[in-house]
Amino acid sequence: MQELYTVSVAVHIVTVCLWLGGMGFLALVVVPVTRRPALRSLAPRLVLETGMRFRSVGWTCLAVLLITGAFNLYCRGFGATELLSPWFWRTDFGFALLLKLALFAFVLALSAVHDFAIGPRASALLIADPESAAALRYRRTAGWMGRLNALLALAIVWLAVVLVRGWP
Ligand code: HEM
Repeated sequence: MQELYTVSVAVHIVTVCLWLGGMGFLALVVVPVTRRPALRSLAPRLVLETGMRFRSVGWTCLAVLLITGAFNLYCRGFGATELLSPWFWRTDFGFALLLKLALFAFVLALSAVHDFAIGPRASALLIADPESAAALRYRRTAGWMGRLNALLALAIVWLAVVLVRGWP
């Protein structure tokens, strides 16, 4: 069982790297590069195609984080009985987990709206008429949702470190 637990924590951490790294690559590399004059005409299509590809990678990562996270908890001795007991959430570990899971739920909701509604709509409007007011509005909204998601992800990583090493 110890081997499985170690593998689960390793998979959990590698998945975080892939998810956070992918978001960072899109925001810090793909989007800025597509804004260069030489690539501007290709930008809406390129952002749509890379965004759609990363959408499936991102949601797979979120599913793996939920599964390995639940297994990590189980290996630490926290099963349904503990998770359903109010005293558990009042412990230092339980409170850090509560905040982590609350942010995780918010990231899931924000990702769903961004990935399945605002993002595709922004790309469709930018492909149809890149200079239209609606296209620019949706692009700005999609951008801010992506940045907020990245910030929340960093807050989750901090809470994860607190989970393992205790509150500072
Ligand atoms: C976006 C989502 C998530 C991120 C970014 C994330 C990040 C991390 C990181 C970086 C660690 C390693 C911390 C360290 O060793 O210092 C960790 C550990 C852990 N995570 Fe997550 N996590 C996420 C979702 C979840 C979920 C949904 C759960 C529970 C269902 C969970 C439960 C755990 C547990 C129990 C550990 C401790 C592992 C151990 O025993 O060492 N995580 N997480």
